[in-house]
Amino acid sequence: MDRLVIRGGRRLKGEVQISGAKNAALPIMASTILSQGKHNIKDVPHLRDVMTMGKLLANLGAGFHIHNNETIIDCDRIKNFEAPYDLVKTMRASVLVLCPLVARFGRAKVSLPGGCAIGARPINLHLMGLEKMGAKIQLESGYVIAKATRLKGASIYFDTITVTGTENLMMAAVLAKGTTILENAAREPEVVDLANCLIKMGARINGAGSSVIEIEGVDELKPIANYSIIPDRIESGTFMAVAGITGGDLVLKNCIPEHLDAVIMKLKDAGVVFKETKKGLRVIGPEKLIARDAKTIPYPGFPTDMQAQFMAMMTVAKGTSIIKETVFENRFMHVAELKRMGADINIEGGTATVKGVERLKGAPVMATDLRASASLVVAALCAKGETIIHRIYHLDRGYERMDEKLRQIGADIERLTS
Ligand code: EPZ
Repeated sequence: MDRLVIRGGRRLKGEVQISGAKNAALPIMASTILSQGKHNIKDVPHLRDVMTMGKLLANLGAGFHIHNNETIIDCDRIKNFEAPYDLVKTMRASVLVLCPLVARFGRAKVSLPGGCAIGARPINLHLMGLEKMGAKIQLESGYVIAKATRLKGASIYFDTITVTGTENLMMAAVLAKGTTILENAAREPEVVDLANCLIKMGARINGAGSSVIEIEGVDELKPIANYSIIPDRIESGTFMAVAGITGGDLVLKNCIPEHLDAVIMKLKDAGVVFKETKKGLRVIGPEKLIARDAKTIPYPGFPTDMQAQFMAMMTVAKGTSIIKETVFENRFMHVAELKRMGADINIEGGTATVKGVERLKGAPVMATDLRASASLVVAALCAKGETIIHRIYHLDRGYERMDEKLRQIGADIERLTS
């Protein structure tokens, strides 16, 4: 398994090209099931998870290939309606094919995703909504089997705000008979990107980005023609953390600051300086970060996907930071590894108390999930000495060429392939 070797202590300077958003690309790729014909999507990032979604679509009978910056998906010949366990277990977002399959073909057999490192991650709300729209749902040997002649519009209230739950049911509703209302819907920019793409396919959607989304079903949709995925706000946030912790000076190209208001405000409070320039968003790290508290909540609050990277910054900030994780029940897997590097962190339930230390020390550490691995990279870039990060396939799931991008801005980093 590949590992990264990082020698910390350098102030990173230069330009970083932010890639397309993984969490927008995955639902948009799944949405191609909703319409026959050849779909053309631009700026899809080259990531493990994207390749897994491509494999899943190919397994259904779709054609999938990437040509330069275009991802071409052809859903004319879908003849299989099953998302098998061996694919779904590697990527929970596979559940996003469930509703498009039922919406267009009236049937689907999708493996239950099972839990992951950060939590149980049930899909009960996805199934609740689908049932309300008239689907017959059975659970059998770890699979969801869903059937419907034609889905019908319904009013659906999410007890918990769910990003892929909102996306899945939006895709169920676009071909349903009648109107669907999604209440307490997720407001993430990736939900809006999916809605904008569906509207270009002919869907009738109002309110995406707010907590009430109204979808009026249509009889059919046309293929995606040249839709460009939004930039990845979490990759942008991760490089902001890199600038902050190394006292660096980076220009993030292809970043949408409005998607990161909560993160930018928090980092400004911690001493990071932001300047909008013609080339992109300039991010300048201070000599010493100031400890600040953070609490993760659904968008537009501070994102759970930035909690681990922010914690890495706080391990060397001046003062004590209280970080509350409210979205997932077990998203502190990075803490034990950061402590191996000399961080002073105590956990009580969903709250971590981080006392800033003078400097971290390089050590062999292990990635456990996508954002935990990003947190270890951020920490290693400022640690004294050498850090070896094992199991970086977790990082490759969500960051395109991370080691190359870091090397280009001056990091002493090497990927060892075994
Ligand atoms: C999406 O996951 C993202 N993944 C996650 O990003 C992100 O961390 C998460 O949203 C929260 O922002 C993709 O978009 C592919 P949820 P998702 O449904 O949709 C509970 C990354 O790092 N819940 O919004 O799976 C759930 O247990 C990944 O890129 C139910 O109880 O997350 C959690 O506590 C990690 N029942 C909360 O809701 C359900 O049916 C939020 O989960 C669904 C969710």
